Amino acid sequence: MQKSSDIFSTEDARRLAKRRLPRLVFDFVEGAAGREVGTARNVSQFDNVMLQPRVMADVAQCSLATTLMGQSYKVPFGIAPMGMCNLVHPMADASIASAAQAMDFPMGLSSAASTSIEDMARMAGSHAWFQLYFGGSQEASLAMVERAQIAGYETLILTVDVPQVSRRVRDLRNGFTVPFAMTPRAFWDFATHPSWSLSTLAAGAPRPMNFTDSKGSNTFDRGASRSGADWAFLERLRGKWPGKLIVKGVTSAADALRIRSLGADAIYVSNHGGRQLDSVPPAIRLLPLIRAAVGPEFPLLFDSGIRNGEDIVKALALGADFVMIGRPALFALGAEGAAGLNALLSCFATDISVVMAQLGITSIDQLGPYVIFQDAGHAHVDAETKTQAALRLAAKT
Ligand SMILES: Cc1cc2nc3c(=O)[nH]c(=O)nc-3n(C[C@H](O)[C@H](O)[C@H](O)COP(=O)(O)O)c2cc1C
Repeated sequence: MQKSSDIFSTEDARRLAKRRLPRLVFDFVEGAAGREVGTARNVSQFDNVMLQPRVMADVAQCSLATTLMGQSYKVPFGIAPMGMCNLVHPMADASIASAAQAMDFPMGLSSAASTSIEDMARMAGSHAWFQLYFGGSQEASLAMVERAQIAGYETLILTVDVPQVSRRVRDLRNGFTVPFAMTPRAFWDFATHPSWSLSTLAAGAPRPMNFTDSKGSNTFDRGASRSGADWAFLERLRGKWPGKLIVKGVTSAADALRIRSLGADAIYVSNHGGRQLDSVPPAIRLLPLIRAAVGPEFPLLFDSGIRNGEDIVKALALGADFVMIGRPALFALGAEGAAGLNALLSCFATDISVVMAQLGITSIDQLGPYVIFQDAGHAHVDAETKTQAALRLAAKT
């Protein structure tokens, strides 16, 4: 029998991706701001969150289904918006779309995606959410939103944590640009990774597909300021966009309250995987604070540091309604394409149900801070958060 995948964890996916991808591409995915302390801390902070097992509950039937903004999904996770996914594999975007349809989860299509807004709408249907980066002017940004609306998107993510693209040292060292510049160094990198190079050559080098002018030339500027995504723009966008509006990249409780007051449907707690600010606090530490601020009912999504299903359970317990997967999905795709992605997502789903069984619970809405082990060393899950979780659970049952 043919073995379908060698991936049993994010670590496997990362190791195999590192082998298959040119360094330039691997570093684009894994790299982060500054000394990359923030990105490492996002991940390591999950180790400080421990779960309290409970025994002898009847956990034979366990459901991963959940509801977000009135929409039900079969699993409590989706795939975060990421630019230029086809860099890791020519079929990356298509594989994400297929997985989203098959497993019933949402996926973010970045403004900087290597697949067009319209093509992704055809591939993923209502599972695709469009993620907007402010670009150029308010008019140009709203035109892109209108394009998404015409294509049938019902959910829009506005990313607000990239006022300026950070300095990412790996990309600078490698001479990473979009589209690629064929420097001698890049040529050597590609030549020594033939599996990636041949498949990418056959499919054509990926490029940002949503930035083409009337002459067909690419107008994408990766380094352009996106600071036009300000409070006034959010207000204007809310007035124009009739669908669900999620604001991504929120790390401050005060910002969360203001965003909620401007009519967003959900807040997406994220520090961009440490790609923007090296000294940013670990995202999982911020989540309970933001949950406490916005109250038990307001929808919260979360990413930054998720590496397995157990991490997803922790984020749900600490206040998220839904969790998004970032780099692990690209590692799995870079390692093995669709087979790798499906294998990793299936590990995540299995992890979640096995962990829930250990905790003695059978449904996602039963998760709350009470499943987190607490002692004097874990004071960040405070009494306030516990009360919020009890209210949330009471409201849901
Ligand atoms: C290669 C790459 C490209 C990304 N591109 C975008 C993007 O276009 N828009 C966006 O909102 N976030 C983008 N992100 C951030 C992710 O949506 C997410 O917040 C981050 O990956 C979470 O951190 P983690 O991958 O360490 O879990 C990108 C992340 C990576 C790794």
